[in-house]
Amino acid sequence: MLPMNDEPLEPARSASSPTMLSSPNDPTLTPIRVTETVASSGDTHTLGFPQRDKPAEEIAPAAPLPEIGTVVGPFVIQEKLGEGVSCHVFRAWDEIRSCPVALKILNWANVFDRPAAMKQLRMEAMALARVKHSRVVRFLDFGFDPRWPYLVTEFFEGRPMGELLRAGGALPPEWALFLISQMADALGAVWQAGLVHRDIKPDNILIGPNGNAKLIDFGLAKADVLEAMRERTGPELAGTAAYLAPEQAKDASTVDHRADIYSLGVTLYEALTGRLPFEGRNRVQVIFQHLNTQPVAPAQRSPHVPALASDLSVWMLSKNPADRPQNYQELRQAFDTVMGVRY
Ligand SMILES: Nc1ncnc2c1ncn2[C@@H]1O[C@H](COP(=O)(O)OP(=O)(O)OP(=O)(O)O)[C@@H](O)[C@H]1O
Ligand SMILES: [Mg+2]
Repeated sequence: MLPMNDEPLEPARSASSPTMLSSPNDPTLTPIRVTETVASSGDTHTLGFPQRDKPAEEIAPAAPLPEIGTVVGPFVIQEKLGEGVSCHVFRAWDEIRSCPVALKILNWANVFDRPAAMKQLRMEAMALARVKHSRVVRFLDFGFDPRWPYLVTEFFEGRPMGELLRAGGALPPEWALFLISQMADALGAVWQAGLVHRDIKPDNILIGPNGNAKLIDFGLAKADVLEAMRERTGPELAGTAAYLAPEQAKDASTVDHRADIYSLGVTLYEALTGRLPFEGRNRVQVIFQHLNTQPVAPAQRSPHVPALASDLSVWMLSKNPADRPQNYQELRQAFDTVMGVRY
């Protein structure tokens, strides 16, 4: 059971029979990252960090992963928390602030273009530094350790929502709504900071022991100011196929916040039903459905899903961005209405 906090939620009810999700290795759940669209030089000037955009071989030799106890900047590595395509995340001890932090470093083994990867990590730091909200992990530091450039955020004691869904299938509807509505607030702050997150999915939402949620992983975040750092080479493909808005599948560089609302709709759908709205054997099949297929309503998939919650997720999954909730105020109101109705 998910522990609850002091929010006025109804007691937990049994979820619909859980359906296990695809394995974490499912290709439709793997982020697509196109690092070659990131410039490898040219902005040193504007940004004023002398050594950051040097050719890879001048930066430092590729270092093996740090071991427990290794000191990186003022941080002591304590424990591996997770890893993605291009990064490793560790819990570390901050010797200045005397508290645990989350330290994200590049996974050199998977990095082919080192200056581009460093720039991408720096862009993630710049994006995160712009957002201040209790439902978004707080940016703390960015450093140019010669072996491991690092991004540091507050450490949040929690499990990725993706892990909870893979382990237990659908959540009780009132938990699903409570958790996802917190992300609507987080994304409101992301929007206010002039950003689109572009990688909203359960694995990028951490759930704390009292049911509080926090948004992480701004590795694909887009902002006009950050776009100026990119050398455009054509339409950009970014995001995770299973959660990708139709317009993001066409060209991720042109999307606005409504693409995040779509991906949050997929996440809500999955939390309510334990299944993705669109499943397929590969990315192409999944993306084709995002573009062309109407989702089966969650209430049709599971009798435990209340009609209003089902309607909300279908609304968020509208193909045309103009047919979705248009802003986070509207989305928050919709969540409040659905959660206020006793069922
Ligand atoms: N602030 C944090 N507090 C606690 N754990 C965290 C924090 N940030 C990340 N983690 C853990 O590390 C995992 C990976 O983090 P994140 O999603 O930021 O990186 P990633 O997906 O590996 O990155 P990329 O996709 O860029 O390679 C998370 O699923 C979570 O378990
Ligand atoms: Mg991630």
